[in-house]
Amino acid sequence: MQLPRSQDLAAELIWLDETTSTNDALRELVAQNPEQPSRTVLVTDSQTSGRGRLGREWLAPPGKTLAISILLRNRAPQSVGWLPLIAGSAVRRGLAQVLEDFNSAGVALGVKWPNDVLASGESGEYRKLAGILSEMLPDGSVIVGIGINIGFTAAELPTETSTSLTMLIADDRVPETDAVLAAVLEVLFELLDAVEEGDQQRIADVVTADSSTLGTQVRALLPGDAVIEGIATRLTGDGALVITTQASGEGEAAEVVVAAGDIEHLR
Ligand code: BTN
Repeated sequence: MQLPRSQDLAAELIWLDETTSTNDALRELVAQNPEQPSRTVLVTDSQTSGRGRLGREWLAPPGKTLAISILLRNRAPQSVGWLPLIAGSAVRRGLAQVLEDFNSAGVALGVKWPNDVLASGESGEYRKLAGILSEMLPDGSVIVGIGINIGFTAAELPTETSTSLTMLIADDRVPETDAVLAAVLEVLFELLDAVEEGDQQRIADVVTADSSTLGTQVRALLPGDAVIEGIATRLTGDGALVITTQASGEGEAAEVVVAAGDIEHLR
């Protein structure tokens, strides 16, 4: 597939007609070519074994999604915890631009911590449009894997809480792959430039502005099945979510730092 706009942005762009998981394919490529440059992008619209966060499966049948993996040689190790959040903002902002180009700017997009990109549907409820799986390589490089639901119809959606770009666009037009990919890469690489320049304040401002979790009542399902509820109050210096629980009975209000887990928005 020809992807001229995206090609201009990436250090190297590799299109595969089909692969198991783009994260796995990029990891193998880096193992074979240790000099593979930062901002190499590997992309397909057909994954046979897509992987999601927390060991889950990510369904990506032929032609219905875009699966993108990006190699980031980490030049700012202190910011590594922010990379998944930065990716969430880049996808939110890039897809908002695509929707605007298709006269669907009325759709609100937000990022559920750490990086699910949600879109407001017709009924006002938020549904998942894109998910991100970031994985670290032994040398500290990071592979950011982005899955975007592009062409699913309502009947084809992988879960009841998903949506797709085409469902959000009036008259069901499907945006071109190059337009979607370039819109996301443009924002991502601009934010990574800020990381590499040490502009932590800009990163924190962008991620905070894009978050639909901060300031809301949430339930966090933590690894090991612990559950906590409270207000998502802020992010720590390394991108973890702070949840402030309410005082109840003998228990005092407390701040719990969540570095990994699933968040539910309660209202
Ligand atoms: C999630 O929401 O659980 C994360 C989904 C991440 C899916 C993407 S698709 C591109 C990359 N390759 C994979 O196997 N997974 C990620």
